[in-house]
Amino acid sequence: MVAGTAILSAMAKGWFITFEGGEGTGKSTQLRLLNDWLRALGHRTVHSREPGGTPVAEAVRAILLDPALEPDGLSEIFLLEAARHDHVERVVRPAMAAGAVVLCDRFTDSSLVYQGLVRGLGWDEVETLNHLATGGLAPDLTIVLDMDPEVALARAHTRNSEGTARENRLDDEPAEFHRRVREGFLELAEREPDRVRVIAADGPPEKVFARIHPVLPEALR
Ligand code: TMP
Repeated sequence: MVAGTAILSAMAKGWFITFEGGEGTGKSTQLRLLNDWLRALGHRTVHSREPGGTPVAEAVRAILLDPALEPDGLSEIFLLEAARHDHVERVVRPAMAAGAVVLCDRFTDSSLVYQGLVRGLGWDEVETLNHLATGGLAPDLTIVLDMDPEVALARAHTRNSEGTARENRLDDEPAEFHRRVREGFLELAEREPDRVRVIAADGPPEKVFARIHPVLPEALR
């Protein structure tokens, strides 16, 4: 509770916190836990995701995740950035201006890693497109959930076969793809150690969350 009290005043201006990581690392679960934790402390929160978060961006998400459609790399990044611009302008900026804590499942860093690094479009090129789409808005804090992709994928596939999530185009990529995604996020954390924190994502959700919430007061000072 001491940590919680400490972040109350720090968050008066509105904050933007993103969760990143490979498939099956438990981002959505941790985001929900953080959302509940912040609300219990009296913060107003907005819980969103990318691609998605607005009707336009959710429609783009359906295109991007449809296994029957295979946009090439450049088409894919433009679709992502179109969805992102809509989401930033209609959801993220207004919520922050109103003093809310915005929690987002993936953001610009996913584009840097998946499209820039792994798909080979180039880090700087994607950074330029990210900047255009967001008007330069960057998260105050990014939590990267890190774990062995084989374990994470096995978890994601169990989840999918239980019908709690749809199988998507990127879940079907080979193991090497997911290994490079993991390395990409670790590289990102090395480039921006103040903003990006790597959290070990193995273990039960409450154990992982116990590693996450202590990061907030320090990171958001
Ligand atoms: P997920 O958020 O449910 O994991 O699914 C979204 C998929 O979209 C995931 O495989 C990662 C991918 N993605 C990108 O390739 N680039 C991006 O910029 C974003 C936001 C997501």
